[in-house]
This record gives sequence, C-alpha cells and structure tokens, in this order.
Amino acid sequence: MKRRVFSGARPTGRQHLGNYLGAIQNYVNLQDEYDCIYCIVDIHALTSLEDTGGLQKNIHEMMLDWLAAGLDPQKSILFVQSHVPEVMQLHTLLSMVTPLGWLLRVPTFKEKAKLQPQNINYGLVGYPVLMTADIVLYKAEVVPVGEDQLPHLELAREIARRFNNLFGNTFPEPEAKLTSFPLILGLDGKEKMSKQLGNDIELALSPQETTERVMTAVTDPARRYRTDPGHPEICNIYRLQGYINPLELDSIGERCRSADIGCVDCKMLLAQKINATLEPLRERRAVLATKPQYITDVLLDGAQRARVIAAETLSEVKQKMGLI
Ligand code: AMP
Ligand code: TRP
Repeated sequence: MKRRVFSGARPTGRQHLGNYLGAIQNYVNLQDEYDCIYCIVDIHALTSLEDTGGLQKNIHEMMLDWLAAGLDPQKSILFVQSHVPEVMQLHTLLSMVTPLGWLLRVPTFKEKAKLQPQNINYGLVGYPVLMTADIVLYKAEVVPVGEDQLPHLELAREIARRFNNLFGNTFPEPEAKLTSFPLILGLDGKEKMSKQLGNDIELALSPQETTERVMTAVTDPARRYRTDPGHPEICNIYRLQGYINPLELDSIGERCRSADIGCVDCKMLLAQKINATLEPLRERRAVLATKPQYITDVLLDGAQRARVIAAETLSEVKQKMGLI
C-alpha cells in the first residue's frame, strides 16, 4: 500500500510563485508515489477574521490554480476542510489530550498574538490542534510543508504520541517533508513572497502583467548605471532567476558582472522565463475558469471520499476514548 500524504493550505485566493515553488509543485510531484490528500483549510482561515466574505471566491480561485498546476482529482483527494465536519469533532477530542502549555509556547501563536492583539481568540490557541486533527483524521504519515510549519508538525507528533500512549496505538506520528524551495523571497528581496505584503507574482497574471510586476523589483543597489558591473550574489532578481531559470544562472551571472546585460535586460529575461514556464498552466487555467461546475463537482467528490476515511477514524477514536 502507498503511504499517505496530507497537506493543507489556507484559502488565500489566486496563488503566487512562492506558493507554486514552495508548495504546489511538491504536491503535484508526490501524487504518483503516495496516496495524497490535499485540503483547502477554510476553518483555519477564520482565526483571523479579515475576509470571510471572500472565502468562496478564494477557494474557487485557489482550486483553479491547483488543478491548472497539475493536481489531479483522479489521483488525489482534493477537498475543503469544512466539507468534512468530522475534523471539528476530532479537534474537540484531541483538545482534551493537549496540555495548554504546549500551545502557548508555539512561536506562531506568539507572533499572531502580537499581530492581532485585539483578537487573540480561543481558535488561535487551538490552531495546531485543528491542524493535527486534519492530519491524523486520515492517519497521514507524510506532510509536505514549508519551514514555517515545522513547530506545528512537532506538536502534531506530540499530540499523536500522547493520544497513542493514553488510548492505545491509533495514529502514525506524521513526518514533515520539506519542499526544495522552503522560502521564496518576494519582489522586495527582503521578505517571504506573500500576497499580504504585496511583493508577489500571481500565477494567473497575463504575460504583460508579469513583465510589469518583475520590472518593479528591487535589484543590486550598488549598480547605478547601466555600465556599472553588477553583483549578482546580492541581487534579488538573480535569486529569482535561480528559482525559475537555474540552467542559465551561471551565464546570466557572468553577463551581469561584466555589464554585458543591465538590470532591465535581466528582468526581461526573468519575465520571459516565468511566462514560458507558466504558459501551459495559464492555458489550462483559462479553460477551467469556464467550467465553475466542474470545480464544485471535484470538491464535492473529494469531500465524499475524504468523509469515508474520516468517519472510520472518528469512530475508532470515540470507541477508544470510551464514548461508544
Ligand atoms: P500560505 O499562502 O501562506 O497559506 O501558504 C500556502 C503554502 O505555500 C504553504 O505550504 C507555504 O509554506 C507555501 N508558501 C507560501 N508562501 C511561500 C514562499 N514565499 N516561499 C515558499 N513557500 C511558500
Ligand atoms: N497551517 C498551515 C499553513 O498555514 C495550513 C494547514 C492546516 C496545514 N492544516 C494543515 C498544513 C495540515 C499541513 C497539514 O500553511
């Protein structure tokens, strides 16, 4: 039997290159070797109540990118977290075996509490318990995530271990599987590429829009004139070239150092490569966008398949905890 993979991502709408390189590509590559379940975690999104009105649209846009990137509903289960309500029951049950001290120590909780001091809700503290429920509901063994999720995964392992010790062996301890690009920096060259920071390149942009976005990027600050030699090792565009154009990286670095190309030329090369890489994805996305019912059907079917597994685990948990 294939080992099971589970991963989740919050419904942030249109995906960007950071999501693509850091998560989606990895999800796609795992589909043949593993039994994969990928979830859009809409309940998790409610921990910060910024845009609940946009949730449905965000889920739809995100699925368009996921499917266009090659996630295949024939191979993997693709579903929305709240469509499988068993996860909320398991969350409550797991909350009984999770010491509060473990949760208050989680670094992402401390960061969030600083970011939204006016809204430090109970759900925010329990975020890693819900995330654990996501994973262990399917008895997943492997969880592809970015580096930022490692503390959550550690906690998931501890909660699973504690449950197993208290009630008998039930859950595998899930292992994190880091992506090859755990952190893609944004166009500002300083922070992680992210929609909120406005330093991202969305996959669904047109080629023209992509070029315009790339042109706004910060480059080597020491290179003021076209004839100045560049310093690729400190240049943000060069780093982005490394993600998207690795085969030509050495030659681009050389041409930058010798001032054979300027920053605008280099950005043009990058934009062209991004556009060429994403062209097939964009074509598939445009077709999918004309079939909203298909997206709904994929998610419905995914939830049905997920619920079969979820119901079985939940009933086992309830039995072990003495509820039935
Ligand atoms: P988010 O959009 O932050 O919920 O992230 C969804 C998935 O994309 C997670 O697995 C993240 O680790 C990954 N991800 C998001 N932004 C980046 C980035 N800038 N670099 C690498 N991975 C990212
Ligand atoms: N916390 C993850 C993030 O912010 C999303 C997530 C929720 C998740 N449940 C999960 C990731 C289960 C992996 C497995 O990106």
